[in-house]
Amino acid sequence: MIRRPDELAKMRKAGRVVAEMHEALRAGAKPGVTTAELNSIAAEVIERRGARSNFLHYHGYPAVICTSPNNVIVHGIPSGYVLAPGDILSVDCGAIVEGYHGDAAFTMGIGEVTAEASRLMEVTEQALYAGIDRLVAGNRLHEVGRAVAEVAEGAGFSVVKEYVGHAIGTAMHEEPQVPNYWPGRPGPLLKAGMVFAVEPMVNAGGAETLLLEDGWSVVTADGSLSAHFEHTIAVTDHGPEILTVLS
Ligand code: MF3
Ligand code: CO
Repeated sequence: MIRRPDELAKMRKAGRVVAEMHEALRAGAKPGVTTAELNSIAAEVIERRGARSNFLHYHGYPAVICTSPNNVIVHGIPSGYVLAPGDILSVDCGAIVEGYHGDAAFTMGIGEVTAEASRLMEVTEQALYAGIDRLVAGNRLHEVGRAVAEVAEGAGFSVVKEYVGHAIGTAMHEEPQVPNYWPGRPGPLLKAGMVFAVEPMVNAGGAETLLLEDGWSVVTADGSLSAHFEHTIAVTDHGPEILTVLS
């Protein structure tokens, strides 16, 4: 799907709201705060900006963000969980403006975290940017996953395979998918106007995942830490443009 300039302008607006959610949540996430309180902070940004939530009620999802601490990879539901020093927390946010979607995630440390946790977060963010660098017209889409996996696995970590990135536009999840690994074929040719959410999930231990009883929370099978970084990015004639930023 190729987005027209007027559509990209709306996606920039949605991306900016998501970036504002990130800013507010980074400031709000501290020891003693619950993940339900973070959800309220995010809901307030959406409300203040006159945006809508794409997460709330998505296949029955009950909140406007996902909060995934420590061994939770993605899709953790905000709850009474109290953040503690040494935790890492992945926060996934989305918003709809004028019918167009933004989607982005980050992982942060709460207070002081271990050296391994810091390295996991740094490497996962580097893997995201290595993938974003491949979003150039004329490239093949699956070069993104190859670049992501090279960085993450090169650092001794493992990449989650069961959950992937996606095209995004008038729906949060559009085809094609964006795997975070080389799926054995090059995938679609990239053209200016295509928009993707690239979102590596990287585990400190093995790649295997489990779904918890709540039907949403995806955890590492071995209990190891996991990090998740995501941006919404447009392929343009002058390279990748990250839409989920403040300016
Ligand atoms: N935004 C997530 C993604 O990165 C999906 C969230 S699922 C929801 O694709 F149910 F929480 F909305
Ligand atoms: Co996404």
